[in-house]
Amino acid sequence: MAVDVILGLQWGDEGKGKIVDYLANNYDLVARFQGGPNAGHTLKFDGNKYVLHTVPSGIFREGLLNLIGNGVVIDPITLEKEINLLRASNVSFEDRLLVARKAHLILPTHRYLDAASEAAKGKAKIGSTLKGIGPTYMDKTGRNGLRVGDCMRPDFMERYNTLKTKHLGLLKQYPAVDFDLESEEKKWFASLELLRSLQHVDGEYFVNQMINEGKKVLAEGAQGSMLDIDFGTYPFVTSSNTVTAGVCNGLGIAPSKIGEVIGITKAYCTRVGAGPFPTELDDEVGEFIRQEGGEFGATTGRPRRCGWIDIPQLQYTIMLNGVTQLVITKIDILNKFEEIQACTAYQYEGQETNVLPYDIDAVEITPVYQSYKGWMRDLEDSTQFENLPQTAQDYVHTLEKLLETPITMVSTGPERRKLIVREAEVLS
Ligand code: GDP
Ligand code: IMO
Ligand code: MG
Repeated sequence: MAVDVILGLQWGDEGKGKIVDYLANNYDLVARFQGGPNAGHTLKFDGNKYVLHTVPSGIFREGLLNLIGNGVVIDPITLEKEINLLRASNVSFEDRLLVARKAHLILPTHRYLDAASEAAKGKAKIGSTLKGIGPTYMDKTGRNGLRVGDCMRPDFMERYNTLKTKHLGLLKQYPAVDFDLESEEKKWFASLELLRSLQHVDGEYFVNQMINEGKKVLAEGAQGSMLDIDFGTYPFVTSSNTVTAGVCNGLGIAPSKIGEVIGITKAYCTRVGAGPFPTELDDEVGEFIRQEGGEFGATTGRPRRCGWIDIPQLQYTIMLNGVTQLVITKIDILNKFEEIQACTAYQYEGQETNVLPYDIDAVEITPVYQSYKGWMRDLEDSTQFENLPQTAQDYVHTLEKLLETPITMVSTGPERRKLIVREAEVLS
């Protein structure tokens, strides 16, 4: 069986958690392949709300396995909090949550370094979630990192101290920031015991065995393609490959094993943290979307920047990911708009283009907007595509044409059941 992929096509928070949770029932294994506790994936069902950071979003579906893949970076403290949440909700995880031995560990000093290096950047800061993501991936590629498997080795403390000493040396280069290392270390080592007690697997053998046995695997992305370390709005990005290619590295599977690539976009656009955002609405419309959409970070609580949907940006990420089907989320947030805007091109250096410029962080690009009629009513009674107001259907058809990709799901609310699943339509 092939591995299907779900990932975000914008700057994160597209609603990946909700869609993974919905679709998980069709799979035997859900696997996170990159990122770490910078992610915040929200699930809502039966009147409850859960936010997951490290644990895959399939964990609430009985009977299926969930793997934290080798491409993920793990902070044992966050992981323990998530597991406590599962315990409090009587969700069994002991037999269903697996951790790849090759996943890297976020040390307290990685978070310390993240805080110090962001503070030192001053106005140029990225707006990191300060979860230690950048420093941990730097140690991974610098070949200094500690991995989950290492915490079972007899010389773990020695390795930990070597890395910590290196970090303390680096920290001397930065102006001081507030960080209680002693107390953070205490918590970290206490939480490490829980991580040690979980099921560790050689993720690459495990996933490939499942594929060979004909089991169905769903890879869950974190962040969004515009935050990809290679193809995002660098340097305002995260430190991992968030695109489909990251699934191969992050789980240990061959490109030929990738099946459906399900790309998620909001019906508008958001970004949290600094960096270019061509369609940002720094006005009352943006504020209205923020309030209607509850656009505040699931991990940090920061207000998200809001703007209109950006077609050239989505064309770019559909290309990068080989998206085979699209999911549009949060269409209900546009219920009160008489007119909806979509950016269909950019004006840049006197020309109209659909190409994102290399130096997007430095040059002036002006979005060219098309206006579409809104539907001006709630979507409570719309459980099938044909029940949506005609103008909402038209808007979806328009996006489908512009993006040349079938829209197979339309999400109309945060709850699990608020999802319209369509048969893929053939594009004319
Ligand atoms: P993720 O990081 O991609 O999983 O997304 P987040 O959980 O960070 O942010 C998405 C937010 O939108 C969460 O609060 C979800 O509960 C909510 N959400 C998801 N889909 C919909 C939808 O169709 N309509 C509305 N109103 N909210 C949604
Ligand atoms: P989910 O999975 C939205 C952003 C941060 C910052 C930049 C770098 O919930 O969609 P980092 O902590 O990785 O060093 O931050 O990336 N960022 C996210 N934005 N959703 C996320 O995850 C994000 N993870 C990181 O705000 O701008
Ligand atoms: Mg999120």
